[in-house]
Amino acid sequence: MSVQIRRSASGQAMPRETVALPLEAFGPSDTTTVYWLGNAGFLLNSRGTTIMCDPLLVGFDMPVLVEPPILPEDVPAFDALLYTHIDNDHFARETLAGLKDKAGEVHATHYVAQVARDEEHVTGATGHDIGERFCIGNVDVTLTPTWHNWQDHMTSEKYQHRRWERKEYCGYWFDTPDGSIWLPSDSRPLPEFLEWEKAPDMMLFDFADNIWHITFAGAVELANKYPESELLLIHWGCVDAPNYTPFNGDPERLEASIKNPERIHALALGEGLALSIGNECAPSGRVAKTSSLGWLDDFILRNSSLAINRTREAAALSSPELAAWLAEQDLELLDYRDL
Ligand SMILES: [Fe+2]
Repeated sequence: MSVQIRRSASGQAMPRETVALPLEAFGPSDTTTVYWLGNAGFLLNSRGTTIMCDPLLVGFDMPVLVEPPILPEDVPAFDALLYTHIDNDHFARETLAGLKDKAGEVHATHYVAQVARDEEHVTGATGHDIGERFCIGNVDVTLTPTWHNWQDHMTSEKYQHRRWERKEYCGYWFDTPDGSIWLPSDSRPLPEFLEWEKAPDMMLFDFADNIWHITFAGAVELANKYPESELLLIHWGCVDAPNYTPFNGDPERLEASIKNPERIHALALGEGLALSIGNECAPSGRVAKTSSLGWLDDFILRNSSLAINRTREAAALSSPELAAWLAEQDLELLDYRDL
């Protein structure tokens, strides 16, 4: 086994000792890096655009195994705070109270945003539909579907005062200048998870063996569907719950079960994983490269799945390096005037 983990007294897998999150993690950067904050929380810094998602730094109602990498009062201003769903290991209200005035924007599903506005006084919280896209700085964000409305299947009065709908729970897909990052979030396995046209470069990977999560078999299937995707493990090793499956995933079990297990990253809280894309193109034989470049307007940014990559394509196709490479190849170049 190569993942480096610890074991609690009861044998539950837990991460290595927490590393203090440096303030530089919120500053300018020439990379895209994801820092694990514990449970499902993370900080994404994409070339200086800073996004926190589902931070649970203080105030959980179960015993925990690990120290937080930073306290809310020590967090500097950052660009956006995102939430996936209402469960308190994600929408952590005490942590939100300490962060809400530092976040430039707050985004969630419509229901969670409404709760944030009405109950937590986050007046600018913006709600979204599943599938909706928005931009934060240079990061393109899309809400992805989940199936995690477990409250709707509970019979107690605590939950039956309203309907809990699937659209109130989401994952997020992030397109960054350095590649794509997908957070499936807490969810039962869905067919859509296996149907992405392009594999994510990194998955923020819940592998909890629980019926309202991906299940272990579902986690193995998802990991093996995208065998080159880096797997930053989340939702494990933080809550002291050796017999409670939402929180007791074991990275060593996952490592023994998936293709390319070296891509598993069992970070310590506060550690980061940088995204680096191996986009080298090694063409052989005949190469067809088509492109439809154009200017970007507001409509395209809001509705197209080809936004940031469109600008990168323009930069690549007009680069001196590509012109020099083409000159060296035995290729016949065509444009529309030849057709
Ligand atoms: Fe959760």
